[in-house]
Parts: sequence; structure tokens; C-alpha cells
Amino acid sequence: MEIITTSEGWEFLFRWFHFLAGTTWIGVLYYFNFIQTPFFGSELGGEAKSAMTRGLVPNALWWFRWGAMFTFITGWTMILMYLGHGIDLGMPLMTKILTGGAMGTIMWANVWFVIWPAQQVVIKSAEQIAAGGEAIPTAAAGAARAGLASRTNTMFSIPMLFFMGSARHLSSFHNGENDAMYWIVALVIIGLLELNCLIGTGQGRQKYLGSVSGTIHAGIAATVVLYIVGVVLNG
Ligand code: HEM
Repeated sequence: MEIITTSEGWEFLFRWFHFLAGTTWIGVLYYFNFIQTPFFGSELGGEAKSAMTRGLVPNALWWFRWGAMFTFITGWTMILMYLGHGIDLGMPLMTKILTGGAMGTIMWANVWFVIWPAQQVVIKSAEQIAAGGEAIPTAAAGAARAGLASRTNTMFSIPMLFFMGSARHLSSFHNGENDAMYWIVALVIIGLLELNCLIGTGQGRQKYLGSVSGTIHAGIAATVVLYIVGVVLNG
């Protein structure tokens, strides 16, 4: 029964739940971005959009936002557990976990404070139209805003998982001392990527996130840049 009598066992249970919640969240995120949104842009998808927005999207969004919440809670609980038994914030393991965790936390905030409020308006508007009423005037702008935040999260998921997975499985990466400069540069890059999501949905800003392939390429490029920053500034 070590799994419930030792701190290692409890940490493992949290880590297991963390994977499960993270898989649920990112699985639905990829479904929205790689499958549903391109389908909505097709002829058949255009016809099905209203019914799906009312009948399918609310259920998908439930799993999506609670997956995000439990990933966030279990992730930060593990970090507090580590700090509780002597793993120092400055250790290479923590630098990598916190870089991934910073991106995961921004993604969680995008879900709860950008995507979910906007999607509630989109769903309500589709329901009003189906009942013979008027569209909600802010619904179209809300859908565009939620779309950009969703693409931003898809892009962030790529470096986020690289850093989180590298914490214990790529010991050659991030073993240096120069933490402060690393954090300044990494957080400026991550902050600029999020700023692009928050300042609007203008064509120019959305360009590189305007397609599935552009989003994947942007995620890989962000991973390479953050990896190089990590190697150059922190070993
Ligand atoms: C929301 C912010 C997040 C925080 C604060 C966080 C934190 C953590 C922590 C502390 C660990 C344990 C690392 C270790 O001991 O090796 C971990 C591992 C992991 N996390 Fe996250 N995480 C977050 C988001 C995510 C998301 C969205 C996913 C997506 C699936 C994810 C997937 C993983 C995986 C696969 C591992 C296992 C790494 C390994 O043991 O090899 N995390 N995370």
C-alpha cells in the first residue's frame, strides 16, 4: 500500500491524474482546432454548424474546461509538494517544469477567461437564431477571439509538452546556473506570444495562426527558440 502511505505514492497519483486531465483537455483542444474548425469551414460543415454548436459544442467545452482546471490544480499541487520536500526552485528540474507550467498556466487562463466566456455568447446566439430570434451582435467577434485563443493554446501546447517532458527525461538540457537571464528572455518570448492572442484578431496578427499547419509550425518554431535560449543561457 506504499501508493497511499508514502509521499512518492501520492506524488505519483497526482502525476497520473495530471496526465489524465491533461490528455482530456489537449485532446479536445486538438479536436476543435484540427477537426471541427476546418469542418465548419466546409460546405457540409456550414450546414451542420448551428446544430453542432447547440448540441455538441457545450458537451465538448465541459470536458475541455474541467480538463484544463484539473490539469492546472494537479500540476501546481505537485510543484508545492516538491517544494515541501526540498526541491529548490532554482534546480534544473524546476526550471523546466516551471517553463512548461508557465505556458500551461497561460493556456488555462485562455480557456477560462477568454475562450469559455466568448463561447457562451456564441452558443446562446445560435440558440436564439434557432428559436427564430436575432443573433447576438457580439457573437461573431467573440467567436474570432475564442478562435485565436484556441489556436494560441494549440501553438503553446507544443513547447509546453517539450519542457514538461524534458524535466526528468532530458538531463543534458538546462543544467546551468544563469537562471535570471534565462527567465527574463523566456518570459518575454512567452509574453509576446500571448500578447498576440490578447490584443485582437486583426488579419496581420492572426496570420501565422490562421491555419492548422501554420499553428503547428509556429509551435515547433517556438519550441526551437525556447530550446536555444535554454541551451545558450542555462546550459
Ligand atoms: C497548467 C499548468 C501545468 C503545470 C503547473 C504542470 C506541472 C507539472 C508537474 C509539476 C509535473 C511533474 C514533473 C516531474 O516531476 O517530472 C508535470 C508533469 C507532466 N505534465 Fe504537466 N503541468 C501543467 C500542464 C500540463 C498540460 C496541459 C499537460 C498536457 C498533457 C501536461 C502534461 C504533463 C506530462 C505528460 C507530465 C509527465 C512528465 C514526465 O514525468 O515525464 N502538463 N506537470
